Amino acid sequence: MDLNYLFERFQSVFSTKETPRTFFAPGRINLIGEHTDYNGGHVFPASISFGTYALATKRDDKRIRFHSMNFPSDEIIESDLSNLDFKKSDDWANYPKGMIQYLKNEGHSITSGADILFFGNIPNAAGLSSSASLEMVTGVMLEGLFHLEIDRIRMILIGQQVENHYIGVNSGIMDQFAIGKGKKDHAILLDCQSLNYHYAPIDLANHVIIIINTNKRRELAGSKYNERRSECERALLDLQSELDILSLGELSKEKFDNYKHLIKNDTDKKRAKHAVYENERTLEALARLKEGNIKKFGELMNRSHLSLQHDYQVTGLELDTIVETAWKQEGVLGARMTGAGFGGCAIAIVDKDQVNNFKQNVNTVYRDKIGYDATFYIASIGDGAKELTNEGVL
Ligand code: GLA
Repeated sequence: MDLNYLFERFQSVFSTKETPRTFFAPGRINLIGEHTDYNGGHVFPASISFGTYALATKRDDKRIRFHSMNFPSDEIIESDLSNLDFKKSDDWANYPKGMIQYLKNEGHSITSGADILFFGNIPNAAGLSSSASLEMVTGVMLEGLFHLEIDRIRMILIGQQVENHYIGVNSGIMDQFAIGKGKKDHAILLDCQSLNYHYAPIDLANHVIIIINTNKRRELAGSKYNERRSECERALLDLQSELDILSLGELSKEKFDNYKHLIKNDTDKKRAKHAVYENERTLEALARLKEGNIKKFGELMNRSHLSLQHDYQVTGLELDTIVETAWKQEGVLGARMTGAGFGGCAIAIVDKDQVNNFKQNVNTVYRDKIGYDATFYIASIGDGAKELTNEGVL
């Protein structure tokens, strides 16, 4: 499918002859640094070439009309600039509505309505951040359409606020950051406390990153995500009785081990251990990658998964089956779950020549044990959210 098809759909759904402008925001994978963002630690995500397209034109009135090609009908969800409050029946359109409302609240001059068509090719509910992608594509679309000057970090923070306060999902900053600041062939090392970041080229020699979707739906809002956050907050409070720290991300492994007796509850202790050790692992992984030691990088990914499995307990049978089977395959340097967990996707670093064997072997074991197929994609790391000026092929 090419962009011309999206143009045609736009003109047909909105009964117009106008040519819309086109914007794109990617999804993301996280290479390492899981459940560290809301603990003030480091993450190492990258934006991928799957994402969300938004085609839009301004209107003369205050109506905002949304259509998504991801649903089979020609349904248009309509709002008015004067009332952008969350409405359950508006379903997915609440994400763009929230962005419009929050940017308006920040004083950005969104003066007229718009017709907007969305098309997303991120696998549904796979934990590759389709919701942050929808938020960020709306941000760059509003910026372009209304000639706004929005600082990119501010736009990222607004995306997170929409997620936290408008939608009601208590997620960290990683997803919006990876999508808002992504760079082709690079991952981003982000310090989630200071928001300092830098890019690291992803050069895996003769290896590729494979994304493996468990096809078990991951519903973040209904999951144990908030419970993990509270467990970490409780552990931090206990540690603060003697330590002058703002987050678990400030602790080295040694310091944590010296003070962990302060954490009263054993479960909280395990969660905090993961947050601290995973943060150090992330920094070490970056150092090894810079030295070109991708073998060691892969080993750190494996350790990350084990910690998420045993200490943080967010993996589950589907992800563990994929990852443990991946570890046994020839040409695999490392594999781990990516994102929030509880289903969703894993990633593996695999020798290019072994990709077909890998897919076949992992899927055979997975299907036997779980009863349905996994889906495999070769990840390509693309740019962050932006306007598309050239007509491209999706
Ligand atoms: C989800 C959240 C992120 C982050 C990850 C876990 O993707 O949206 O903020 O917490 O889980 O690393």
